[in-house]
Amino acid sequence: MKGLILSGGKGTRLYPLTYTRAKQLIPVANKPILFRVIEAIREAGITEIGIVIGDTGPEIREAVGDGSRWGATITYIQQEQPLGLAHAVKISRDFLGDERFVMFLGDNVIQGGIHRLITDFARHPEWNSQIVLTRVEHPEQYGVAKLTADGRVERLIEKPKTPPSDLALVGIYMFDSHIFEATEQISPSWRGELEITDAIQWLVDHGHTVYPYVHQGWWIDTGRPDDMLEANSKVLEELTPEILGFVDEQSDVDSRVTVQAGAQIINSTIRGPAIIGENTRIVNSYIGPFTSIYHNVVIENCEIDRSIVLEHSVMRDINVRVQDSLIGRHALVQRSEYRPRALKLNLGDYSKIGLV
Ligand code: DAU
Repeated sequence: MKGLILSGGKGTRLYPLTYTRAKQLIPVANKPILFRVIEAIREAGITEIGIVIGDTGPEIREAVGDGSRWGATITYIQQEQPLGLAHAVKISRDFLGDERFVMFLGDNVIQGGIHRLITDFARHPEWNSQIVLTRVEHPEQYGVAKLTADGRVERLIEKPKTPPSDLALVGIYMFDSHIFEATEQISPSWRGELEITDAIQWLVDHGHTVYPYVHQGWWIDTGRPDDMLEANSKVLEELTPEILGFVDEQSDVDSRVTVQAGAQIINSTIRGPAIIGENTRIVNSYIGPFTSIYHNVVIENCEIDRSIVLEHSVMRDINVRVQDSLIGRHALVQRSEYRPRALKLNLGDYSKIGLV
């Protein structure tokens, strides 16, 4: 079997962070989501992986490389425009050949990996496709499946206004080569995309077997800032803590905290689950649960809770607690002594600030 990861698209819902970077490279618990996806595919025993890339391709190629780090070979497939998930499958035909494959959306994080799904699909050559479903609160934001009373797929609809069920399509799909015929037959949707949901519906309508697996653990599509924080919390909860950096005697770091190599914790309190990145300095500060501070960050005299801070940022002397926040790369947040006492902001487009 081969793996296909979709890492093109625009990421507009994560602006401003994704103005300057691929959304799939934003780290969750200090590891880019895309790396987590590659690991999940590798753990399922697949070594030949294709990655569909768009405008952010160069950055993704640089971060991922040739795959040897994971014992995999990576082939990059350039998609000139984000014309839909089924379009991405269509242009990957040369890479996939006639082999069965798993397609994994590069911005999805799922509990428990995909080993079992891959094994089941391999055991059932009569299945032309396997889809993964899970119950969600807001099905209208996803592709939605309606099953028959005996559990077969009856209907799949992309982001329906009135959802026929609360079963959302998780961004993990398994196919055999019949999917290529389906992608040739469907037309673009109202949003101008060739929808994978429509392609799977085509398989159902033409008598092919689409097996629905209902996932019970957590799953997060990291499309929005709140989803990023949620994914970060879930993954942090499952991390095995380790202290590789330096913690001084005045600091109180509890047992669910990871301190990565070269990090320094000075006179600070860290409550887990949390992770402090490589060469980051935390001084006279409080870092609360569900927080990931990435590499080369400086935090002095601050309190931060349930947040993500990306690399090379500096936060200093802030006299209110920072909570539920996503701070991008090279950001500088600090209190100024200058008069008049006023907020001084220099924000990127689409930034969001919640004042107290
Ligand atoms: O996350 C699950 C949902 O993913 C499913 O429930 C939906 O049925 C499915 O259509 C998809 O919906 P989204 O609107 O969330 O897809 P998004 O545009 O965010 O794209 C998902 C990933 O695929 C993302 O990593 C970008 C990449 N992509 C997207 C498009 C449209 C491509 O590589 N090429 C594309 O043309």
